[in-house]
Amino acid sequence: MGVQAATVAKGRQPAPSFTSIRGCESDALDSILQLARKIRAGGVGHSRRGLQVNLFFEASTRTRTSFEVAGRRLGLDVVNLEVASSSVSKGESLADTVRTIDAIGPDVIVVRHSRAGAPEVVAANTAASVINAGDGAREHPTQAVLDAMTLMDRFQIASMADLRGLSIAVVGDIAHSRVARSNLSLWSLAGANIRLVGPRAFLPPGFAEAGWDVHHDLENGLRGTDVVYLLRVQLERQHGQMYPSMGEYHRRYGLTKHRLERLAPDALVMHPGPVNRGVEIADELMTDDRCLIQDQVTNGVWARMAVLDFLLDRLEKVSC
Ligand code: NCD
Repeated sequence: MGVQAATVAKGRQPAPSFTSIRGCESDALDSILQLARKIRAGGVGHSRRGLQVNLFFEASTRTRTSFEVAGRRLGLDVVNLEVASSSVSKGESLADTVRTIDAIGPDVIVVRHSRAGAPEVVAANTAASVINAGDGAREHPTQAVLDAMTLMDRFQIASMADLRGLSIAVVGDIAHSRVARSNLSLWSLAGANIRLVGPRAFLPPGFAEAGWDVHHDLENGLRGTDVVYLLRVQLERQHGQMYPSMGEYHRRYGLTKHRLERLAPDALVMHPGPVNRGVEIADELMTDDRCLIQDQVTNGVWARMAVLDFLLDRLEKVSC
């Protein structure tokens, strides 16, 4: 199984965790995707028992809400730790916070943190399964699962392996995007053809040299592609290396109906949200039939139910 076992908390059994796509095997990911479809079709009972703690150190609308709904729909008790009003605001370390939560006996901890690697710190200090809901600019594995599910629906394909050969252009701030990192890992595993499109400052160093298909020109990057995956310009992670202006970014890289029609008229448009309207995407495309943003959000609940169910199933088998 590719879903990693967490480092063992002292004297306890390791719990299976889902902290990154990197290192996962296609079979494990495909099982989660099939489970998500089965849950959506009503083929899985919702009678799990257990405690899920959501530990969000960063802002979130869709991810936190969908993890909460997913846990409740499975039958779990869900607690949201309000970080601003917790002991973290008094200077408690992440490890100490997690040990405190661990003593309450959670089965799953869902964590979002601005520091890459924080989910591993959590996993090292709890016997619960840990799910990474986004760590710094590193990974956001459940986003990749819900995106794969959305693509599989639209292209009416049966398994993750059938994403092979699909051409996907990722446009925007790839360097700062955890969503891009998780998706690139999943799509590479599946054998999709990936193009990376954006200004030099937004592309991670070394990618062109490592053989990735890199484009600085939107026209070449989008022509004939099956999917355009847009990324938000991560204003909060730019650290002074901003693109000259958002207006300029839109002029060169913003997706408009006109550009889509000219370069890839049948392409589907995706975006993990939150969207900067008028920057990476024109308003008019938000309600276009080719735009899958709402489907992505809807699938987020099924995908997260599947990840939770998958881990809890294995947790029962390794449990103390
Ligand atoms: C993303 C995130 O927070 O990583 N959003 C999400 O979870 N759907 C992307 C972003 O913030 O741009």
